[in-house]
Amino acid sequence: MKGYKVAVVGATGAVGREMLKTLYERLFPITDIVALASGRSAGHPISFGDKRILKVQNLETFDFAGWDIALFSPGAAVSAIHAPRAAASGCIVIDNTSHFRMEPEIPLVVPEVNPHALARFRKRNIIANPNCSTIQMVVALKPLHDRFKCKRIVVSTYQSVSGAGKEGMDELFANSRAIYVNDPVTPQIFPKNIAFNCIPHIDKFLDDGSTKEEWKMAVETRKILDPDIAVFATCVRVPVFIGHAEAITAEFEHPVNVGEARDLLRRAPGIVVQDERDDGGYVTQVDCAGEDATYVSRIRRDPTVPNGLGLWVVADNLRKGAALNAVQIAESLVTQGLLKQAA
Ligand SMILES: NC(=O)c1ccc[n+]([C@@H]2O[C@H](COP(=O)([O-])OP(=O)(O)OC[C@H]3O[C@@H](n4cnc5c(N)ncnc54)[C@H](OP(=O)(O)O)[C@@H]3O)[C@@H](O)[C@H]2O)c1
Repeated sequence: MKGYKVAVVGATGAVGREMLKTLYERLFPITDIVALASGRSAGHPISFGDKRILKVQNLETFDFAGWDIALFSPGAAVSAIHAPRAAASGCIVIDNTSHFRMEPEIPLVVPEVNPHALARFRKRNIIANPNCSTIQMVVALKPLHDRFKCKRIVVSTYQSVSGAGKEGMDELFANSRAIYVNDPVTPQIFPKNIAFNCIPHIDKFLDDGSTKEEWKMAVETRKILDPDIAVFATCVRVPVFIGHAEAITAEFEHPVNVGEARDLLRRAPGIVVQDERDDGGYVTQVDCAGEDATYVSRIRRDPTVPNGLGLWVVADNLRKGAALNAVQIAESLVTQGLLKQAA
């Protein structure tokens, strides 16, 4: 079989495991695959599909020469060192961390939205995957922006603990258990107890009072969709294991018709509209876990501004927000003929 030699970096993490699963499920053409993580996990077994067990190798000592594609999610500081090393040896890096996203020479890509941006990846051999909250928002807004031209976005996020990796999921479990059995609750990953609580703080605070997660949503949306769009985000961590939700209010230049907006969203790639205006006729985070689509519900006019529209947008942050988007980028490189012929 023809295919590519693929490395998954951060393979033992929440995103890395989902990358292995997604590559397998989507039958990405692979001739060889390697799972890389820190020295702590070297030698540990990790499954690829139903029948194959890979032995995790140490990223630190791994030679990328001869490998075609590397999907990176080992954290920003580790990508900063090892992604350029892999890229210099001719391996194309698709990086999930925040490290390279805003570098002008590095494409920041959501295949349903700006696949054309991939064309210039050769300058650095690195392609960046956007932040999980940005991805689902731009997927939902792209068809509406193309038709009505989006000027301003106000968004509140409801982000699951898996957005903070496997330790985030463990902490929600541990804190919930502690509350049930009347043990003391000790937050470690999150700044406050996350069980039965919501925390309006993701990533570090910036000088203007916003958080870096909120800043990322604004600057990444402008890089991917349109540099003229104003974005005001409030990012909140909620006690949900998998799936991010967003309440979005978008203001457009041209008059918006709700029926036409719903039709545009229904026809757009990667989107499923479920908007029944009845008990349970909308999608929640628990519904979207393990799914590939970006779900849009609660589509309605915002009467407080001239051309406003409200949306509820939900997606699995580990899949469309990370692993799936990265694999779709790799697929897009193949379909656009930007990779060397499969050997
Ligand atoms: N979770 C999400 O929804 C999401 C979405 C988009 C982007 N991201 C980004 O993806 C990255 C990983 O997120 P995650 O949620 O998968 O985190 P995670 O569950 O904590 O996993 C981290 C992974 O990185 C590896 N790692 C850590 N230090 C390393 C080192 N020095 N050398 C090699 N590997 C190292 C870990 O390996 P060991 O097991 O050996 O420690 C593990 O495989 C982060 O930058 C995050 O911002 C996450």
